[in-house]
Amino acid sequence: MRIAVVGPGAIGGTVAAWLSHSPLVSSVTLCARTPLARLVVEAPDGRLIEARPRVVTDPAEITAPVDWVLVATKAYDVAAASAWLAPLVGPQTLVAVLQNGVEHVERLTPFIAADRIVPVVVDIPAERSAPGRIQHRRNGTIVVPAGEAGEAFAALFAESVIAASTTDDFTTVAWTKLALNCAGAVNALTGLPGGVVREAGVADLIRAMVRECVLVGRAVGAGLGDHIPDWVVERAETSPPDSVNSLLGDRLAGRPMEWDARNGVIARLGAAHGIPAPLNAMAATLLSAME
Ligand SMILES: NC(=O)c1ccc[n+]([C@@H]2O[C@H](COP(=O)([O-])OP(=O)(O)OC[C@H]3O[C@@H](n4cnc5c(N)ncnc54)[C@H](OP(=O)(O)O)[C@@H]3O)[C@@H](O)[C@H]2O)c1
Repeated sequence: MRIAVVGPGAIGGTVAAWLSHSPLVSSVTLCARTPLARLVVEAPDGRLIEARPRVVTDPAEITAPVDWVLVATKAYDVAAASAWLAPLVGPQTLVAVLQNGVEHVERLTPFIAADRIVPVVVDIPAERSAPGRIQHRRNGTIVVPAGEAGEAFAALFAESVIAASTTDDFTTVAWTKLALNCAGAVNALTGLPGGVVREAGVADLIRAMVRECVLVGRAVGAGLGDHIPDWVVERAETSPPDSVNSLLGDRLAGRPMEWDARNGVIARLGAAHGIPAPLNAMAATLLSAME
């Protein structure tokens, strides 16, 4: 398998390093915005996984299509990153989208046919300290829709520590992750880490935000139970009080934030289905204004 990773950041770099050591993979090409010389990923067990894939920074350097393109930019960078697709995608190429949110396919369909796209829910905590230098904190999971393409994608990770699996209900898996992620706006808006959940009224606010997500998710077919808001709050309450989610991390670093993929989408799809989601709309509006 020839693989190209568009966006070799925390997630793209981590999966590229592991896939570089897969017996199923013959070549890995990193399609980067910022050049890097090599990948050094500190695995959860402390091992260093090193790789020297080919690195290109201009789509004109791509001379042949690959079997898999893995898009691992932030959601808001997809339009700019789409320039890589024309030279990378041939008649057999599949495009896996490793991003947060629930619109993996919609984000890419302006650039490529929907039947080529494999949406991926990624739960791999990873952090980049410099181009190509990544800390992979917990083994983590990858979930893709059941079917031939999903199974082929999951098989690529057989030799890695990342648990890749398929599901018959991808919509529910993606919306469950969104329920967790939408609450992260509370941290980005307050500028405070995980412990803010213990401040007066914050747990109830999170429950209300997640309830909006549950109602909108159900309207688009996700099987989200009534327990989800309490589950999200419980996760927040049992996380380290100094934990920093990626939305807050991006705000603190002055980077753009994925407020549309994590909160705006709930308001947008809610409006389309006649379900008000004012808390998520407010979060998206304020985070956008802060940017
Ligand atoms: N990190 C996590 O723990 C984690 C966990 C679960 C899900 N996710 C999701 O995974 C996705 C990727 O997140 P991340 O944390 O890996 O972000 P990241 O570290 O910021 O990596 C994104 C990469 O995309 C690159 N990029 C942007 N535009 C590009 C372009 N036009 N061409 C080529 N590369 C381009 C960036 O280049 P530069 O080097 O120039 O910035 C960067 O290397 C997001 O949707 C995120 O929410 C992340």
